[in-house]
Amino acid sequence: MSHDGLRRSALPLHPLLNARFSPRAFSDRDVSEAELELVLEAARWASSSMNEQPWRFLVTRRGGKGHAELLAALNPSNQAWADKAPVLILNLVKRTLSRNGLENYHARHDLGLATAQLTAQATALGMGLHILGGFHADVARASFAIPEEFDLVSVIVLGFPGDAELLADNLKEREIHHSQRRPLNELVFHGEFNG
Ligand SMILES: Cc1cc2nc3c(=O)[nH]c(=O)nc-3n(C[C@H](O)[C@H](O)[C@H](O)COP(=O)(O)O)c2cc1C
Repeated sequence: MSHDGLRRSALPLHPLLNARFSPRAFSDRDVSEAELELVLEAARWASSSMNEQPWRFLVTRRGGKGHAELLAALNPSNQAWADKAPVLILNLVKRTLSRNGLENYHARHDLGLATAQLTAQATALGMGLHILGGFHADVARASFAIPEEFDLVSVIVLGFPGDAELLADNLKEREIHHSQRRPLNELVFHGEFNG
């Protein structure tokens, strides 16, 4: 399925935002080194509190070092489709500020910004990207000997869109009928908070 044909919001959002969704169908097409570098470079230029840049990305390629270990840390329901994608990335944050060792309250916020930029660049390249929280952080921490000062937050499944028809029936349905959103008036308040 091409991302170009998708349009989710009724408003004229930028096509990069309107086309994005979290796919589960990935094609055989590999991600080149140049494409991978570009999406990581997009993340690199995100803003962050005090320019701490607390994000870290542990990149693994299907058949390459660390991939089987990261795949094994995913929940089985995610493994069932994520194993087809050529790239899995473990997203981490450094918990403390480099300047004074205090807790970085905005660390996960800033990782979110960086992954949003990564996602926009990947979408611009025609790629499909699905972020996962369904993984066992303790398993991944042990597999990669990650020090305690880093939190393991999420996993990015990255590749190129595939054929939804090849998915299992329960997943096919979710691939075709994209998720909905709350209306703006449930999310936005003007001058006072009454949520
Ligand atoms: C932090 C985070 C964790 C997520 N964890 C999972 C997951 O474990 N499994 C899954 O299939 N999707 C996961 N998702 C995808 C969300 O379910 C999806 O983004 C949401 O339903 C909205 O759909 P859309 O991205 O297609 O617009 C996660 C997304 C985020 C941002």
